[in-house]
Amino acid sequence: MTQHFLTLMDLDKATLNTLISRAIELKAIQKSEEIFEPLKNKVLGMIFDKSSTRTRVSFETGMVQFGGHAIFLSPRDTQFGRGEPVEDSARVLSRMVDCIMVRTFDHEMLETFAEYSNVPVINALTDMYHPCQLLADMQTYFEHRGDITGKTVTYIGDGNNMCHSYMNAARQYGFTLNIAVPEGYDPDANLLKETKDCVNIFRSPEEAATGADMITTDVWASMGQEEEQAIREKAFAGFQVNDKVMGLANKDAIFMHCLPAHREEEVSASVIDGPQSVVWDQAENRLHAQKALLELLMTKK
Ligand code: CP
Ligand code: NVA
Repeated sequence: MTQHFLTLMDLDKATLNTLISRAIELKAIQKSEEIFEPLKNKVLGMIFDKSSTRTRVSFETGMVQFGGHAIFLSPRDTQFGRGEPVEDSARVLSRMVDCIMVRTFDHEMLETFAEYSNVPVINALTDMYHPCQLLADMQTYFEHRGDITGKTVTYIGDGNNMCHSYMNAARQYGFTLNIAVPEGYDPDANLLKETKDCVNIFRSPEEAATGADMITTDVWASMGQEEEQAIREKAFAGFQVNDKVMGLANKDAIFMHCLPAHREEEVSASVIDGPQSVVWDQAENRLHAQKALLELLMTKK
């Protein structure tokens, strides 16, 4: 069976932890300027139905550093954008490339794509999940504070793809997740049921942040929700991560944001640009964590 990475549940806990340590090793290899090319002549196809800076550059750079190549595919100039069936696109592409990364809207579409692909498929963000971001976030926590098992992470904001991936991370990496979310923007109800042992829902960011080891947030309006921006700004008023909220967390708590960020909306400039913020390390780790993932999926015998 082809090993895909559509959510954090596709790998077992031990493998997810190995990915963190391998990402740290690969980071050291790259910093030492040692050439390491386990994916020579291998090709990653990258389908982007939504915009991206970090995801595109980290996957493309990772493939080049590994001695391989990446092809950027946009709906504007491929047949996907003209309605070629997902099943056909998956079958065709997977006969040519060695791994396929997809950023799209509908998670079910990604599942269909993976079903028809003979090569590993990686979720590079859907409306439902963003698992690659979590690999980088878990690496970043480990580098700054060590093992996350038993810690408390607070997510403040929309019950969106990032929130859902944090819920999966909580059960896979063994931490408690406090989610502060305004009514009407709750995460997926089924996922809440599945993760109820490690996830708590709050309506007050202050309560959720109390005693946290890490605080994270995400934009109030995700890609595809741009026209809801004004409504969401009202709904999420009071759910900003600012100095008051950070002050309720543990003294050595760190702040993360997957980026792009909207300063003075979901996070104050004082927090994201302040001493507890590790967002630039977090962004860089997209490269290293995804290289560990590519190595795992593409060199697996
Ligand atoms: N965090 C993240 O996935 O960023 P991009 O949208 O720039 O890829
Ligand atoms: N929730 C955001 C994450 C961006 C990386 C979005 O889907 O737009």
